[in-house]
Amino acid sequence: MNRTRRIEALQDLEPTVEEFHASVIEGLSAPRKTLPCKFFYDERGSRLFDEICELPEYYPTRTELGILERHAGDIAALAGPRARLVEFGSGAGVKIRLLLRALREPAAYLPVEISRDHMLAANEGIAAKFPGLCIAPVCADYTQPFTLPELPGNEFRTTLGFFPGSTIGNFTRDEAISFLRVARNLLGKEALMIIGVDLVKDAGLLKAAYNDKAGVTAAFNLNLLRRINRELGGTFDLAAFRHEARWNETLERIEMHLVSMKRQQVAIGEKRFHFAEGETIHTESSHKYRIDGFRMLTREAGYEPVTVWTDDQELFSVHALRTA
Ligand code: AVI
Repeated sequence: MNRTRRIEALQDLEPTVEEFHASVIEGLSAPRKTLPCKFFYDERGSRLFDEICELPEYYPTRTELGILERHAGDIAALAGPRARLVEFGSGAGVKIRLLLRALREPAAYLPVEISRDHMLAANEGIAAKFPGLCIAPVCADYTQPFTLPELPGNEFRTTLGFFPGSTIGNFTRDEAISFLRVARNLLGKEALMIIGVDLVKDAGLLKAAYNDKAGVTAAFNLNLLRRINRELGGTFDLAAFRHEARWNETLERIEMHLVSMKRQQVAIGEKRFHFAEGETIHTESSHKYRIDGFRMLTREAGYEPVTVWTDDQELFSVHALRTA
């Protein structure tokens, strides 16, 4: 084995263009049109998302970072030495550095991410900061079962799962439970799981976070149509759709929509889709939780809540759980 090479070969399970096509056709054929939010993250979408994280209105990223900064030592103590760290949805790789710095002799870092090139670029930065750390990247849709790469010669004592950013909020309750079960099987028994979860709060604050003044969230939402045009030969006129984010009080979630500003027809290959004026495509839901409700959900998925940390204003929560 070459001992100087610390970034292992990529395990590549990126969704194919056929899967993207099938999901888009299915979503746009439904009586209420939808598109799956996991396809937001092409190269431009990933960059726009990184910009969203820096916006003054988008409180989740900086609030979660504050909580992690304060409690990285506690997380490291719960995980113990020589942990194998599995991150779901690794993105720009900022939060993981806090954990890697706090952990005692981390055995390996396994980022799992649907956006391959974005992850590989972030890994270069992490490898430079943590020389000698074994990095084993996996490009996959982590809502589907997959296996972690075997790392012969790399001995770990414990496994630490990390799912930050309240990405779990982009799943329905049932999808969240099913993701947590997939993750539990992957991480094994008595693993520690750290999950960032956005909390229910004042509707004004929530709506502002998804309707930023600079229009970055709007560009992020509309980019999905641009991606369909580029990769699937779609004919969406981006100027004929506008971004809208609504707070659904009953389901306690922000819903992002693309609203058709006129009666129009869009083609994707042979297929034609009709839009009435004001008709929307529901592109993303971002569920907000209450602490007890989220703990109950994790119990249903086979976890035992260990502890939960929040910021002073209780905007955001970070849960520590053990797989049962
Ligand atoms: C990735 N996810 C948790 C973000 C959210 O807040 O639901 C995605 C996002 N959509 C619009 N702004 C941010």
